[in-house]
Amino acid sequence: MERRADREYLKSVAYADGRLLADRASLYEFQQPRINLAAAVLHALGDAASGRVLDVGCGYGTYLAALVSQGGAVVGADLSIGMLRGVTSQPAGLVVADAQRLPIARASVDAVLMMHMLYHVPEPALGVREARRVLRRGGRLVAAVGGPRHLAQARDLWIPLLEEEGIDGDLRDLGFLNTRLPPATLGAMLTDAFDEVDLTILASEVVLTDPGPLLRHASSTTAAKVTAERGADMIARLSAAVSAVIADTGDFRITTEVALFTAGRA
Ligand SMILES: C[S@@+](CC[C@H](N)C(=O)[O-])C[C@H]1O[C@@H](n2cnc3c(N)ncnc32)[C@H](O)[C@@H]1O
Repeated sequence: MERRADREYLKSVAYADGRLLADRASLYEFQQPRINLAAAVLHALGDAASGRVLDVGCGYGTYLAALVSQGGAVVGADLSIGMLRGVTSQPAGLVVADAQRLPIARASVDAVLMMHMLYHVPEPALGVREARRVLRRGGRLVAAVGGPRHLAQARDLWIPLLEEEGIDGDLRDLGFLNTRLPPATLGAMLTDAFDEVDLTILASEVVLTDPGPLLRHASSTTAAKVTAERGADMIARLSAAVSAVIADTGDFRITTEVALFTAGRA
């Protein structure tokens, strides 16, 4: 089982608690212009946002507070109890559950969220079909994955370092890369399972004037964690490469790209 979808690895290392995700998320504080993903999610959900909403793979609750503010009954579900412990908003419920087998009755919710999580599900198509099963007629699924150009300039510096160290594809996979479930593949799965599918690409840039935020992100990835000693060396080399670009051009610009899907059940 590749690490990115290995539930034991995800529960006990990558998402044992929220710290590594928070390290990655902090990079977006330097996004210009900032993309308000929670607002985009509420917009995509429409009226369904104030009904019964299930946030699958909710993590420490990136979207829960915004959902709760809409006045509906919100439940967060995640594979990792350590992530759920980090939730600070007050949803109606939190449940440890696998997206492939939700402990939720058929046709019982108005909206499902699957944000930046389907690439971790062993069979993402099964997760998509579970979302459809629990949605009532007229309900909506909103799902996001990184787009093909997401963090491209950072990957261009990082991947050669991994290659030089002989770090294999499986270890390359958490953090910078979404090779497991590109938007086109997810789009096809959604089109198979749902009646209407829309895609919005939300693109922006992270602008760094010092390498620190990117180093935090890179340090949180599987390659850096699992190969700790070589990881430290790679981080030092990444730091030097980013600093050289900043010295040369004044900043280091990294493309961000979110593929946000809305799928409707007729
Ligand atoms: C990248 S985080 C995204 C968290 C949140 N949705 C967000 O966008 O900030 C991925 C989350 O999916 C959870 N996860 C991974 N595999 C899962 C599965 N099979 N079922 C449910 N949750 C899963 C992880 O524990 C983690 O909290």
